[in-house]
Amino acid sequence: MSNTFALKGLFIDTPVPGELRCREGFLVCENGTVEGFYDALPERYAAVPVRDCAGKLIIPGMSDLHLHAPQYSYCGTAMDLELLEWLDNYTYPEEARYADIAHAKAYYEVFTRDLLHSATTRAAIFATIHTDATLELMRQLEKAGLGAYVGKLNMDRNCPDFYSEHTPERGEAETRRWLDQCREAGFERVFPILTPRFTPSVTDAYMEKIGGLSREYGAAMQSHLSENLSEIEWVKALCPDAETYADTYARYGLFGGECKTIMAHCIYCPEAEDRMMKEGHVFIAHCPTSNENVIAGVAPAARYLRQGYETGLGSDVAGGHTLDLFAVMAAAVQVSKLRWRYVDQSEKPLTMAEALYMATAGGGRFFGKVGLFEEGYCFDAVVIDDSAHHNLRAFTPAERIERCAYLGGARVTDKYVDGHKIL
Ligand code: GUN
Ligand code: FE
Repeated sequence: MSNTFALKGLFIDTPVPGELRCREGFLVCENGTVEGFYDALPERYAAVPVRDCAGKLIIPGMSDLHLHAPQYSYCGTAMDLELLEWLDNYTYPEEARYADIAHAKAYYEVFTRDLLHSATTRAAIFATIHTDATLELMRQLEKAGLGAYVGKLNMDRNCPDFYSEHTPERGEAETRRWLDQCREAGFERVFPILTPRFTPSVTDAYMEKIGGLSREYGAAMQSHLSENLSEIEWVKALCPDAETYADTYARYGLFGGECKTIMAHCIYCPEAEDRMMKEGHVFIAHCPTSNENVIAGVAPAARYLRQGYETGLGSDVAGGHTLDLFAVMAAAVQVSKLRWRYVDQSEKPLTMAEALYMATAGGGRFFGKVGLFEEGYCFDAVVIDDSAHHNLRAFTPAERIERCAYLGGARVTDKYVDGHKIL
């Protein structure tokens, strides 16, 4: 029974989108997975260690489906430009600095520490084009005990000379070196994910090679889709023979199906792209804070979620201004109200329960059985002290979650990934 323990307290999760399940009792962990939930601890577990989380909230670890680790250094600034100018002026110069491994190490340490203290237990992360710096980030995340997919970026066009892989051949060779080193490193909870930045940054020849690597290594992929109107026009001009933006990935086997895929934003997808995402089980990373800051627009996230698309949340740091997925949940609800008011009166705004679903069970599905307190799921849990909210009234668990999202300031006191206590 040495790998068995229990948490005692108030557990909140979302087996069904839009419905909070709140239970007081004991959650038993056996060998890293949830063994079961009990109102009272069964006699056979009488001797196992029990951590009492009285007064706190316990929720499944959150999954951040989209963020850029190297951009954390300028998070909360650079809010004055739209996407394409923002990339040129702020992003590329900053990401280029990660060629210096000492810089990467120091900056990724800050990122990893802050992610560890957030409610996020799993994340899909963009790094930079640099193999060694990307491996450094992966080592740090693994050491912290976080679960992650991390991508060395692919970029060989429309980027500055000081931040480019220059040719498909050089890019492929470096990406292969990175994938091989990931295999050698034998990470337990951190995996490589192919990361063509977005179609404007990647020639067709390179995209084709990335598709080949995906099949050869069985690797997942992540990228951006239909985020910004100028970007979409640019993709049309760069790829006149593609039927849709999605097709610029799909024609190289990089859009769902066998290739597990996350697409960030998906604000302006035409019906044909929607169909491809649904059929290929492509995960949609809804990034409401970023979509506000970089003036991208408001994605139809409520519709995606309610129509059964794979939908999760992304902080998209540093387009997004915070790693805190509670804040992203609040933004998801808020912008869905603007969409309802200004764009589409047929789709009611998201509820906070739906937002929590996206942050936990919805995004968690990308990582396996993650995001619910149910038998057989990874034992990923965060314990939250919301006493800073001075809950003078007797708020319901649902209201306390709402206050965590809107007020901020709740503190993660304990965190478990696969049953390991990492905080
Ligand atoms: N599209 C291509 N690169 C980026 C990026 O770094 N951030 C966002 N928000 N969109 C992108
Ligand atoms: Fe992004």
